[in-house]
This record gives sequence, C-alpha cells and structure tokens, in this order.
Amino acid sequence: MLLRLFFLLVLCPSTLIGQQMNSPLDGRKYFCPGQIWTDLNGNPINAHGGGIIYVDGTYYWYGEHKLLGKSEREGADGGVHCYSSTDLYNWQDEGIILSVDYQNPQSDIALGCILERPKVIYNKRTKLYVMYFKLYLPGRGYDTGYVGVATGTNPSGPFQYSHKFLGAGSSKGSGDFCMFQDEDGNVYHLTVRKPDKAFCIGRLQDDCLYPEGTYKVLSDIPLHTEAPAMVRKDGIYYMIGSGSSGWAPNAARSFSTQNLWKGYKDLGNPCIGVNTYNQLGAEKTFGAQISFILPVKQRPGFYIAMFDIWNPERASDGLYVWLPLRIENGKLIVEWKDQWSF
Ligand code: GAL
Repeated sequence: MLLRLFFLLVLCPSTLIGQQMNSPLDGRKYFCPGQIWTDLNGNPINAHGGGIIYVDGTYYWYGEHKLLGKSEREGADGGVHCYSSTDLYNWQDEGIILSVDYQNPQSDIALGCILERPKVIYNKRTKLYVMYFKLYLPGRGYDTGYVGVATGTNPSGPFQYSHKFLGAGSSKGSGDFCMFQDEDGNVYHLTVRKPDKAFCIGRLQDDCLYPEGTYKVLSDIPLHTEAPAMVRKDGIYYMIGSGSSGWAPNAARSFSTQNLWKGYKDLGNPCIGVNTYNQLGAEKTFGAQISFILPVKQRPGFYIAMFDIWNPERASDGLYVWLPLRIENGKLIVEWKDQWSF
C-alpha cells in the first residue's frame, strides 16, 4: 500500500491532483500505465477496448463508453466515446460520437446491446470514416456476434449507425477483431470465428462496408486467440493477441508473417516485467488485454501497445496500460514501465 502511494505521488501525481496537472498549460508529459488517466476536463477517460487514427496532426481515440457505475452484467455499454490529442498524453473530450439508442427498443444498437472494441479507418474512395464494432443485440447475451458498422464524415463525429453483418462466414458470426489497413490501402477484418474460435481473415470491399468474399482460417494461429492488434514494419506483419477468458486476464501471444493470408510464426508472449500496482506479470499481461497497436506519427518506426485492465463490476473504472512496443530481432517486446514518455 505504502509503495503504491509512493508511486502515485512521486511518479504520477496527476492521478491525485488531476485537475491542476491536466490544464492545457502545464499538461501531462508522461504515460502512467495502470493509473487513472484524466482528460483535459479532469474526468477519467472513458474509451475502453479502443483504437486510434491520425488525421492532419491530430490523434482520435475511439473506445467503449461505459455507463458510469454500471457492471457489465447490468449492461454497461453506452456507445462510442471519442477523444482527440496532438501529443498522445493530453486528451480532449469529443463526446459520445455514436450513442446507444435510448428511444427505439427495436434498434440494433438499443440500450442493452453489447457494443465493444470500436475501430475506425478512413476510406479515401467514399471519403467516409468507417467504424466497426462488436455488436450483440439487446437481450441475447454473447450469443450471435455481429459486426456493427457506423460511418461519419468527420473524425470527431458524429457517426451514424449503418448496418450489421455476420463476420467470418459463420451463422454465429465473430468476436474480437482488428481492422487492419495495409500500405496498399486494402483493409482486412481479422477475427475469431464463433462458435469454434478459429482465427480468420477476410478482405473488405473497396467501400469497407462489408467483407469482399469468403474468409480464410489462419491455421497457424491457435484457436481461441482474441483481441488481435496488428502492425506492419519493414514488410513484416506483427500481431499481438490474447487467450480467451472473458474479462479475466490471461497471457498475451504474438505472431509475425510476411503474408497476411498464411505463414504466421509464433513469437510467444511479448510481455516482460510486473505491473507495480497489481503485481501481475507476463502470465496475466499485467492484468490487462491488448486492444490496439498505435504507430506514432512523430516517431516513424515507434509503436505503442494499448491494453485495457477491465473492471467488469464497475466497467467505467477500467484502466489503460499503454507501453512502448519494441521490435527486436524479429520478436515483439512489451516491457512494463511505471511511467514513460517518447
Ligand atoms: C473478452 C473480449 C472483450 C469482452 C469480454 C467479455 O475476451 O476481449 O471485448 O467481449 O471478453 O467477457
């Protein structure tokens, strides 16, 4: 307890005196993984399971807006919350840019639906920002997993719900996913198929609103791989994922390949070190689960691995763990740090 207080006060004082430290004038200059992260208004950032895009000098972070104080059991999903930043440390609240529907109980995204892991890409052809998210219809639990699709003309929203589809060619759909945009502009949906949990890839149509054709099972990737996040460096694709244990943490796994459709090599668990605050190490991914790998535009070749520490009893209290991702000798390394900057 004393040790924890020491770290809070000395290394990351903004978690305790957030309002002062987070004014735009003397803004935050460090990442403090596993600690409460406040926005520029001093409110804890509410963007879980998120992803980030970069547009004209600004980063936009999209994540699950968890209804304050609710448990996952009670239905905590309120839509997609967006924050913007130019430096990645200080985030401005852009609001809920896609809300669950409070009026129409027949809506696919009516209050009570499960709306998770939003990811956004920009489609040059249609000039639309296209958002995918995991969608389970209200009242059906985690039965059939749809991909929900929403679009917008502005990165800071609003987004309009468009439609849903069943991914991975299964009548039960798919679960966790990443939307990976390759250097040639093609966008892929990498996802875990339901109910057999095979890991699959499908290319999206030019407008990115639907998959183009059939999905292929990536048999080199073990069954039950969830929470995929991908990046490409020097012609090699790298992926980090998790195992499958719901909100409870498990060990991360990582892979590389030269061809998105085959030949994935198992690189093992990329995590090193121990989370000072919960004493969890690589065997539990510091108590967290991967959600995205962010290429940092100011530092070409530098990547941040973004993780969530879930809090299913009070979903909005979930925490973020952002750590530098190193690529060394063909392997991925994510080392715990109490505080860091780039
Ligand atoms: C996780 C998944 C989360 C959420 C959770 C529910 O494995 O990554 O997005 O669906 O299961 O138990």
